[in-house]
Amino acid sequence: MPENDTLDKIDLDIKNCTLCLLCSTRKHTVPGEGGFLKKLMIIGEAPGYHEDQSGRPFIGAAGKILRNTLSKNDIKINDVFITNIIKCRPPNNRPPFINEKKICIQYLERQILLLQPKIICLLGNVVSSYLLGIKSITNERGRILHKNELKYFVTYHPAATIYNRNLLNIFEQDIKKLAEYLL
Ligand code: URA
Repeated sequence: MPENDTLDKIDLDIKNCTLCLLCSTRKHTVPGEGGFLKKLMIIGEAPGYHEDQSGRPFIGAAGKILRNTLSKNDIKINDVFITNIIKCRPPNNRPPFINEKKICIQYLERQILLLQPKIICLLGNVVSSYLLGIKSITNERGRILHKNELKYFVTYHPAATIYNRNLLNIFEQDIKKLAEYLL
């Protein structure tokens, strides 16, 4: 991490980043946003269309589910930091390539080092498998996991719950547990 790193410096480095081809198709970089009162960091996969248009994470349909579920559990959106492993939208919302993840992870690592979260919530398989090596989140979700002196909590990606009531119920239960942990 650069000396005296700040969120503004990280945002600027992301904004100027040309380390992978996503820089040529993005409209905006999406570094992440929020506050840190709850010491909770939430990490998704990559920006989608709406995020790319606005430069803000989780503002489309999946974001609505995430934001509603947090709010039902008295977690103010401005008190948590929300970001993604990839800071630019992959064209047509394809899953990020491995080289894109390898290159982009440096920004997430700086964000984590700087913010020192009490817990990091990972949304969905892509993120959980990349950061924790989890093959399927079904067995690992809904509890605290430890790696490299950091605490993680894995749950489904809210996009997976859009047409699946059952997954939505589980997602809501998981976020409730996470909220209780943060009390
Ligand atoms: N899905 C994600 O994983 N991240 C976003 O920012 C939006 C949708």
